Amino acid sequence: MKQIFAAVFVIIVIISFIVVAFTLTQVQQEEQRLKEGLEQRSILLAESLKETVQPNFINKSDQQLQKLIDKFEDKQRLAGMVIYDNKGETIATSSSLIANVLKTQKIAEEAMDSDAVNGDFVELTNEKMYLLATPLHDQGNVVGALMIAQDASYIDTRLNEIWKSNLLRLFIQASLISIAILLIIRWLIYEPIRGLVKFLKSARRGDLEQKSPSLSTNFFFRPLIKEISNIRGSLMEARITANEEAKLGLQKLDSPWTEQRLKVFIKDVLKDRTIFMVSNREPYIHTKKGRTINYYIPASGMVTAIEPIMQACGGMWIAQGSGDGDKLTVDQNDKLKVPPDEPKYTLKRIWLTEKEEAGYYYGFSNEGLWPLCHIAYTRPTFKKEDWEEYKKVNGKFAQTILSEIKNIERPIVLIQDFQLALVPRMIKNSRPDASVGIFWHIPWPNSESFSVCPWKKEIIDGILGADLVGFQTQLHCNNFIETVSREIESLLDFEQLTVTRNEHISFVKPFPISIAFPNPSKEKSANFDPRKLLKSLNIKTKYIGVGVDRLDYTKGILERLKAIEIFLKKYPAYIGNFTFIQIAAPSRSKIKEYQKFTEAVEKEVERVNNLFRKNSWKPIILFKRHHTQEEIYQFYKLANVCLVTSLHDGMNLVAKEFVTARNDNKGVLILSQFTGAVRELKDALIINPYNGEQTAEAIKTALELSPLEQTKKMRRMREVIKNYNIYRWSAELLKIIVNI
Ligand code: F6P
Repeated sequence: MKQIFAAVFVIIVIISFIVVAFTLTQVQQEEQRLKEGLEQRSILLAESLKETVQPNFINKSDQQLQKLIDKFEDKQRLAGMVIYDNKGETIATSSSLIANVLKTQKIAEEAMDSDAVNGDFVELTNEKMYLLATPLHDQGNVVGALMIAQDASYIDTRLNEIWKSNLLRLFIQASLISIAILLIIRWLIYEPIRGLVKFLKSARRGDLEQKSPSLSTNFFFRPLIKEISNIRGSLMEARITANEEAKLGLQKLDSPWTEQRLKVFIKDVLKDRTIFMVSNREPYIHTKKGRTINYYIPASGMVTAIEPIMQACGGMWIAQGSGDGDKLTVDQNDKLKVPPDEPKYTLKRIWLTEKEEAGYYYGFSNEGLWPLCHIAYTRPTFKKEDWEEYKKVNGKFAQTILSEIKNIERPIVLIQDFQLALVPRMIKNSRPDASVGIFWHIPWPNSESFSVCPWKKEIIDGILGADLVGFQTQLHCNNFIETVSREIESLLDFEQLTVTRNEHISFVKPFPISIAFPNPSKEKSANFDPRKLLKSLNIKTKYIGVGVDRLDYTKGILERLKAIEIFLKKYPAYIGNFTFIQIAAPSRSKIKEYQKFTEAVEKEVERVNNLFRKNSWKPIILFKRHHTQEEIYQFYKLANVCLVTSLHDGMNLVAKEFVTARNDNKGVLILSQFTGAVRELKDALIINPYNGEQTAEAIKTALELSPLEQTKKMRRMREVIKNYNIYRWSAELLKIIVNI
């Protein structure tokens, strides 16, 4: 749009320039014409008056002269007359010129000196006048002069009129031209291009129904449309071939899984059964700023993992609406199509009251279950009122799911994470035909730790409503089975890893979650220039370290900062040469523990920076705000080393994202031994985050690792993620769910 306005502006400037130049010429010509006309008329008038004035002048009849002058005063354009003697003295003058006779004297004197008519345009009492003097003679001698003053202001009036009318014409022309340009751009360019984009998008999505934009109406675009139609045809062919290949690939589990292969798998294996994804956190959060509504993708490992599956399979994702622009973007059923820029599935939002959110989300989920499941030495808090809200909100989610699956046979309901532990039982009790799975993204602690939860039996029973209970690791599965055996009555099969309760069997299985690999949408940043980014951030350094986390006490951020301090103390050669960038997304900031943690991180950054600060260099840069995924990918690509130092983490997808981003096979990953990811990414430098010395040594090793070694390690890690990406994760989970 900006360019269109710029083009219109340039055209208007050019037209204005032409109109002004033309008007200037017109005005000059008109001025000349009017002046010459006035001069001619003045000469004629002066000569005819001279015939009357001269005899009286010779007869020295001053009275007669004055009478004569009074008689002619104010006649038509004649503003006045003055008669001078040959010494330049005034003999008679019109009353209107009395004040100005001295100013006019010079013209009369020049006429007498040259014995010829003399005229000029002058400004008299703010009025433009034309003064013309003609010499008076007696027997061939110049004895005086007659000067007439003609009103010349009409010349300026006329010239102003020309300017006004031309500028008005210019304004009308410019407006009409602007409107015409905008309409032409809209009809001839914008609309056809919009049609083409829609057409191409549909081709990319494999929508065969979409017709090509009408060829007849688009004269200019006809060749382009033809070409694009051909490209679309080729795209469709390629898609069909890819589908065929994906079908063949279905038989071989070891060939890489792709979005396409998952689509084919879902069609073939699920036989078009609809998938309902359910989570607390939504994949797109809309926010309001004045009148504009924007959206962002939240910093959530769960969203990172699940979103590509939904993009591949379609279906519905039910989640809590949490943005202040969320209500403005849904339809009357609280639904909208997402991703907003290229809709592929439906998001249904559930609204919670402040009280519900405080008790269910901040309270029981994040002050109770979160610290309970993470062994990070933060005490869980259990409050009865929070538990009540947790039950109530789980019921609200269950009711929404039940109403959505009301008319759907054997729906597949996939529930995500610890915020919704009671939902599987609620769904299964009402809809035994539904296939229900729950995936626990965070760790499941040992049975003894879990036993402190006052409502442990209800939580376990809620989870066991699911046909399939997924955890990140085998250890978490074992911990869960052990907890079940300790807390509730059930039949356990340790070989098959199943729990039978009230004749319902739940399968318990590890599914290490992953991410989309490769991820073309995130690789948009592939061509960025790292030097430019560093310059824009005013960072001058040799080596870059990066950390990307929610501001959460389980992520080991304080331990990481301490390790950087140890590293710089031990290896001072890196002072001024190593900068660590911590990207920290604010999270759960209404909880006191999180507020205290954020303050502690800020203080620690300040403390370490003050120890080593040198000129404009400092060792740690903290970016405490939400970053887009593209922005984060740029930092991954920039880094020599990425630090993941969680004290306890179900999986940690930052580790996998860093590896996915490094298609240059460079960079080193330092990874905590307490993450789920450590079981797969064995080529990372593995550390115990509680051991600062060890982490410091790992930073040194990472920075000094030869490019060849880096490439070897990175290649192997990329291979692992490629082979076990999110498409394979969901295919394996779904395959089990449909066969139960
Ligand atoms: O990955 C674990 C998890 O709790 C997800 O369920 C959640 O989306 C993510 O961390 C971020 O937390 P939150 O949704 O509370 O911001």
